[in-house]
Amino acid sequence: MQIPNYEAAKVRSKKEVLIRKFNLDNKYLNLGLNKKFYLKTYGCQMNEHDSENLKGLLHEMNFEEVFDMEQADFILLNTCSIRENAHNKAFGMLGRIKHLKESKPDLVVALCGCMAQEVGVIEEIKKKYRFVNFVFGTHNLDDLPKLLYENLTNKKLNIEVYSMEGDIVEELPVSRDSKYKAYVNIIYGCDKFCTYCIVPYTRGKQRSRKKEDILKEIKSLVHEGYQEVTLLGQNVNAYGKDLYDDYELADLLVEVSETKIPRIRFITSHPWDFSDKLIEVIKEHKNILNYVHLPIQSGSNRILKLMGRRYTKESYKELYDKLRSIENISITTDIIVGFPGETEEDFLDTLDMVNYCKYDSAFTFIYSPRENTPASRLEDNTPLSVKEERLYRLNDLVNKYSKESNLKMLNNIYEVLVEGESTKEGMLFGYTETNKLINFKAHKELIGSIVKVKIIDAKSFSLDGELVE
Ligand code: SAH
Ligand code: SF4
Ligand code: F3S
Repeated sequence: MQIPNYEAAKVRSKKEVLIRKFNLDNKYLNLGLNKKFYLKTYGCQMNEHDSENLKGLLHEMNFEEVFDMEQADFILLNTCSIRENAHNKAFGMLGRIKHLKESKPDLVVALCGCMAQEVGVIEEIKKKYRFVNFVFGTHNLDDLPKLLYENLTNKKLNIEVYSMEGDIVEELPVSRDSKYKAYVNIIYGCDKFCTYCIVPYTRGKQRSRKKEDILKEIKSLVHEGYQEVTLLGQNVNAYGKDLYDDYELADLLVEVSETKIPRIRFITSHPWDFSDKLIEVIKEHKNILNYVHLPIQSGSNRILKLMGRRYTKESYKELYDKLRSIENISITTDIIVGFPGETEEDFLDTLDMVNYCKYDSAFTFIYSPRENTPASRLEDNTPLSVKEERLYRLNDLVNKYSKESNLKMLNNIYEVLVEGESTKEGMLFGYTETNKLINFKAHKELIGSIVKVKIIDAKSFSLDGELVE
């Protein structure tokens, strides 16, 4: 039994991060023979990619995936802590699983991901959800085979969560969700400690993967025919700082570009570490896509300071203007409304920045206090109804600009990576270089290739197009 602890999670030691190669012990190989697993993922792309590794591990143990929870012998929830509603969804799911387990006592249930790193969540599981078989955290994904094995002989709730990040584990098995686009981690953890955010506690200190390991992974993806990679990290712009004296994200992107993978994206960028060199590199390489996700969070300097974001609206604008010099760039953002003490005036500053930046799209959230974060200790007198009303006003403005940016695309031709069949009957869907969702009629054979599409209709969240022969 190993439970999380926030004091330990906060520590940023200078200890060298070890890198080790994953190896599956033979005794785990047949654990999943004739057994089915159901995996539910919450949260960000990093969690989605962790789930691809978890599936890889389960497939190596000969488990088969099912998409109906009732058919599963093993249910795994890969959870997210970012906001209260992510929490509630996972606990709601545990409630449903409890009923299932009553009629199916051999069912094995496990929880992992960011919620497992929360002290309060572990206490709640120990109190109310003792039917869970085991819990493991973000720092020991590779313990899954061991925990499943131990569960064969010991059915009591087992909690194995480490607060301090461990080694970087290379060569974990992976079952990717797409055959055409792939996520590649380049940096783990986060050292920014924005005052509202739980991620620095759930994901540990910032650790870059070695460039050789990243490039090796991408070269093998090119070899397998992948068309697009997304380089992942909570703050990709900090890439290399913990590892190299003179090698940053811009340098990595140049080397990734040389692999000739047709499309390269990178998320998420913190405005603080965005270098001029990075802007030049995006301009100079066709396969580094002209798309940047640049979270602003608030347009009020007072609130930005309380958030610990380390930039002002003026410095954000300066960076934003430089980015707009990249031809046809698309810029998206994240915004939080209702941070403790946010006044109407602060909120109007945020709307001002949205009017200035005219984002291609934005993810907008109501502030959600997270356990143990500095912001959760701030006084917050704004009623929820006021925060909700601000969110509506913000969304109206954001949607207006999304629609405007989409309307500008009408009658133009864009390259689209075709990803699959659309929810709209008889249509396929794919994304442009600038990450716009396009639906269009074409033969299924085109799935996985990059085609030219002319835009014929524009809405706020998607566009319709027609294939250009
Ligand atoms: N590393 C990224 C963000 C990761 S979390 C960055 O710094 O930009 C994704 C988004 O969730 C954040 O950009 C923020 O807008 C939102 N978020 C994070 N913590 C939150 C909280 N406590 N309440 C509401 N939204 C939050
Ligand atoms: Fe959270 Fe800030 Fe780190 Fe993003 S940069 S993950 S918002 S602490
Ligand atoms: Fe959620 Fe953890 Fe990602 S808190 S947003 S799953 S890093």
